[in-house]
Amino acid sequence: MLDFSAAAPALSSSFTAALSPPDFVQLHHEDRAAVRAELVAGLLAPQAFTSPKYLYDALGSRLFEAITELPEYYPTRTEAAIFKAHAAAMAALQPANTTLVDLGAGNCAKAASLFAAFAPARYVAVDISVEFLRQALGSLQAQHPRLPMLGVGMDFSSALQLPPQAGSGPNVLFYPGSSIGNFTPAQALIFLQQARSACAGGGLLIGVDLLKPRELLEPAYDDALGVTSAFNRNLLPHLNQLVGSDFQLADWQHVALFNAAESRIEMHLQAVRAVQVRWPGGERHFGQGERIHTESSYKWRASDFEQLLLSAGFARTQAWTDERGWFAVFWAAG
Ligand code: AVI
Repeated sequence: MLDFSAAAPALSSSFTAALSPPDFVQLHHEDRAAVRAELVAGLLAPQAFTSPKYLYDALGSRLFEAITELPEYYPTRTEAAIFKAHAAAMAALQPANTTLVDLGAGNCAKAASLFAAFAPARYVAVDISVEFLRQALGSLQAQHPRLPMLGVGMDFSSALQLPPQAGSGPNVLFYPGSSIGNFTPAQALIFLQQARSACAGGGLLIGVDLLKPRELLEPAYDDALGVTSAFNRNLLPHLNQLVGSDFQLADWQHVALFNAAESRIEMHLQAVRAVQVRWPGGERHFGQGERIHTESSYKWRASDFEQLLLSAGFARTQAWTDERGWFAVFWAAG
């Protein structure tokens, strides 16, 4: 097992032999019965709902990657431009000898693009399954043979507690992509409190999508090509697989709307006709027009998000935005 507490071996600059391959630790173990019970409870609620995490089966993850390339979906490219413009200023705020902890690492590309500026001493990639991380981390290790790497399989949306193998820090938690927007404000506060505990002496670098007019928000979640519609509707075959239900794709349409009172984009699946959906041990009638709420994406005022960071226990914050003020990257010192 890679010992992160030990100093990396001193290698001469001409010697670039790889460290041993990245180590992996899987903390999350899928409980199919619990998943099924959670989903059935949501489907039977007066306002039916499902957690947004179920949008990400293998196809859903690929559809989300396609969304990030759509002209209407501004967050990914706007955030990337902010990191590109301000990486050096962000790096200057970080203490030496940090562990860069990548929350929801996926293909690890966003964090890897910051290695040169941040020069972390260690890299910990966290995602729900180490299987998603294996290939990406393996090739990243080959490109950065002297950087100790660890892959952690963990569902940090329910609780963020890093395993001892991640070392004792100081940690810089990296949470880009405005994924914090998929938490309710109450959930976001709990997550940020846990993040604060996990980055003492380091900090948190987090991407946040900012509040903007409905005319800009709604097309980002209902693109002309229909990729977001496919992403949302792909939940139905995934539900059929997880619950054993008989949802028919033709019965449901994608709806994305901005709820100004809650400052969030909502995605729903709306029944185009009255349908009876059955699964082993249960069923539900959906009237025409009735909806299943599948995702909320909260849009923050920068000042409100700064206040949330302070409420979570962070002492100092700094933010960078694009010139249109559409997106912000916050640094919060731990
Ligand atoms: C992952 N998350 C931040 C995306 C968002 O914008 O809320 C998910 C998404 N849903 C529809 N389009 C993108």
